[in-house]
Amino acid sequence: MSSIEVIGKEQLKGELKIQGSKNAALPVIAATILNKGISILKNCPKILDVVHMVKILEELGCKTSWDENTLTVDSSMANITQISESSVIKMRSSILFLGAILGRFHEVTIAYPGGCSIGKRPINYHLNAIKKMNVTQEFSGEDNSIIHCYSDKIIGNDIFLESPSVGATQNVLLTAVFSEGVTRIFNAAREPEVTEVCNYLLEAGARICGKGTSFLVVEGVKRLNDVEFTLSPDRIVTGTYMAAVAATGGDVTFLNAPVNQITSTVRTLIKTGCEITSKDNTIRVKNTQRAKSLSLLKTEPYPGFPTDMQSQVMSVLCVADGKSIIIEDIFESRFQNVSDLVKMGALISIEQEGRKALITGVETLHGTEIYAKDLRGGAGLILAAMVAEGKSVVHDASYIERGYEDICRDLKTLGAKIRMIT
Ligand code: EPZ
Repeated sequence: MSSIEVIGKEQLKGELKIQGSKNAALPVIAATILNKGISILKNCPKILDVVHMVKILEELGCKTSWDENTLTVDSSMANITQISESSVIKMRSSILFLGAILGRFHEVTIAYPGGCSIGKRPINYHLNAIKKMNVTQEFSGEDNSIIHCYSDKIIGNDIFLESPSVGATQNVLLTAVFSEGVTRIFNAAREPEVTEVCNYLLEAGARICGKGTSFLVVEGVKRLNDVEFTLSPDRIVTGTYMAAVAATGGDVTFLNAPVNQITSTVRTLIKTGCEITSKDNTIRVKNTQRAKSLSLLKTEPYPGFPTDMQSQVMSVLCVADGKSIIIEDIFESRFQNVSDLVKMGALISIEQEGRKALITGVETLHGTEIYAKDLRGGAGLILAAMVAEGKSVVHDASYIERGYEDICRDLKTLGAKIRMIT
């Protein structure tokens, strides 16, 4: 695992272009199975999770190639309907292939992806929904961890999601594209990454209404065509670097930012004292003072404050002026950073079965050795190291490479003293 060294207390200045979105790329990569042809995906981030998903495409019989940040997929020869357990364990987002493979081949065998450090990550909403589309589900293997779904004819139906799950919404969409009849998804997730899958499928010739809302309607079609599609910039990477300015102070303009997807993050950072202005697809963040505390910050489904930004803002609040409360309402254990932040001198206590963090801002943190435990937590520790006195080393930094093309390159461009040391 790699480690990143940071010398704290450097203000950030300058301009930075935002990479393509990880959480848009992953479901769209899975969706390329459906068109039995060519998909050209532009602005695709070269990150570990994408590399893993592309490997799975090749396992399934697809041909892939890269040209800079353009990924080309030819799924015409895909003929495998099973994803190996080793691939699933390494890449939980492979569960997004469930709907795509089932939608195209009417059969799929995939291992239960299992949980991760932020939560159990069950897929009951996915399976309950797909079962209603004339799909038989059988379970085998140790702990019934191998899922085999098949159908002689996938039939559209009314699907009521128990909660607006992003992955479940995406899997139902992918299963429904070639189905008989109409599928109506009630309580669909509204995250931009769901809209991104809708946009890719519409570009390929699918019939979908209601994108961006919690009510999606899919009318099955016979086939899809080749697609050329540009992925959105990453809203969480944008928010991460905006939070870095909120923490360290400075004046940074982000180019090619998904301005219309980050309203709740902008609103939150303005409350911490940032001055934020935007024009077309650029957004400028200025902060010349100590961050202000937040009386209450709660993570919610989109368009609420994103859970994927929670660790980063927690680092800002550790050095804010006053007491803050964060409620993590999406995942059951997403305060993984707290022990490391406390080691750096933060004052944080956890209540309500790990869902509520009470933070008392301190003047400064102290650099030390800290350990990333998940992707966004790792990014949060980088921000904490950037506001700390002295040197920090963030170990297990490979977690961060799952979602950030090159966090060291990006932050160094803005003046941070940061480098990969192993
Ligand atoms: C997506 O995960 C994102 N991943 C996550 O980003 C993000 O945190 C999450 O949405 C919420 O916005 C990708 O897009 C690849 P959910 P997903 O299904 O689809 C529970 C990152 O850092 N649930 O909306 O797995 C689940 O346990 C990652 O980029 C069930 O109980 O999220 C969680 O508590 C982390 N049963 C909540 O719902 C189910 O069948 C939200 O999960 C499905 C979900």
